[in-house]
Amino acid sequence: MKNILVTGGAGYIGSHTCLSLLEKGYDVFVIDSLVNGSIESLERIKSFIKKKSKIKSNLHFFKVDLRNFSQTLQTFEKLASEGIKIEAVIHFAGYKSVFESIENPIEYWENNVGATLNLLRVLANYKCKAFIFSSSATVYGLNMKSPISEDSNTLPINPYGETKIAVEKILKSFFKSAKSTTSIACLRYFNPIGAHESSVIGEDPKGVPDNLFPYICKVANKELGLLKVFGSDWPTKDGTCIRDFIHIMDLADGHIKTLEYLTYNKPCCITLNLGTGKGTSVLDLIKTFEKVNKIDLNYSFVNRRDGDTPIMYANPLLAKKLLGWKAKKDINDMCLDGWNWFKNNPNGYR
Ligand code: NAD
Ligand code: WQD
Repeated sequence: MKNILVTGGAGYIGSHTCLSLLEKGYDVFVIDSLVNGSIESLERIKSFIKKKSKIKSNLHFFKVDLRNFSQTLQTFEKLASEGIKIEAVIHFAGYKSVFESIENPIEYWENNVGATLNLLRVLANYKCKAFIFSSSATVYGLNMKSPISEDSNTLPINPYGETKIAVEKILKSFFKSAKSTTSIACLRYFNPIGAHESSVIGEDPKGVPDNLFPYICKVANKELGLLKVFGSDWPTKDGTCIRDFIHIMDLADGHIKTLEYLTYNKPCCITLNLGTGKGTSVLDLIKTFEKVNKIDLNYSFVNRRDGDTPIMYANPLLAKKLLGWKAKKDINDMCLDGWNWFKNNPNGYR
């Protein structure tokens, strides 16, 4: 399998996965509307690969909004007319903010579900072998007992999570349909953080981040004055919430392993957690960040945030069993690499 189409490849997880794919020798075709991604991330990947392996990277970009059916169709037609057969699709494109999804649910349903339907309609004519979808641990909802395995109930509590579970269901029906020969993997990511170790690419949130790690970086950089830790009275060892933070390059590697699994096995439809299986408290992450980067963070405890759950970490054993994949990096690496990227690129890609 050589030609991989990556939707949302100019975004955070997509760009890191593109880099890993190119390093493995795949040809990569990125579709992105750039609503939350940056073309500069792809330019940097190209130069990085060229410098490292002295070869021209096979990375191609199409500015396409997947909500636009004809644009999407034309891109596939153009590739086919040039004799390029897309063998697999990794579908990252979508909106990802829980809070925005509560404010603008229709936008979320349109972009996360509507755009995916367009993509699947087009794909139905192109006999692609594998489809990997970016799902989220958010589908598990609140108060699920950790470690959470894939057969746990899914009870999302916000429109964002509902769109993720809706797409998972659509993909299951798509797989079962008589016409489909495409293997499917729904990957439920836990909390990806950090950056590529080169600090060539990383996370570049627009505006004030909702998520903990980019917020920490902006406080460390004195761009934001104070980190508010939401709750000090949760039923955990230090009163702060526990999450399963996973290094972005381990997550990227999980996609490569999934691609290999779907390619070399008979048609299947699988759902996998991608997490480390280790719970880290918010305070542990703050202290580790301070220690490895030798920085004091200005933080204080405030009330709990609505919609948070105290403890959430993955049971990652199914991914280990099926893919032979396991996260290798720890929170020291995540804090070092994430801060290194941020410190060297305080304005992100701008
Ligand atoms: P991101 O916003 O950095 O990347 C998404 C990319 O998709 C962006 O480059 C954006 O421009 C593009 N895009 C959005 N809508 C599009 C459309 N209609 N057509 C074409 N391109 C479009 O987000 P990310 O953090 O890289 O997340 C990637 C995927 O993983 C998302 O589907 C997200 O829901 C999911 N996910 C993310 C996390 C996380 O914590 N980052 C966790 C679980 C799941
Ligand atoms: C982590 C912990 C906060 C910010 C979300 C989505 C999930 C997935 C990952 C996309 C929580 C605390 C945070 C801050 C804080 N994304 N926190 N101060 O909520 O676990 O998951 O992102 O799919 O779907 O729901 O991640 O980074 O927002 O929060 O104290 O300024 O950090 O309360 O305990 P979360 P997060």
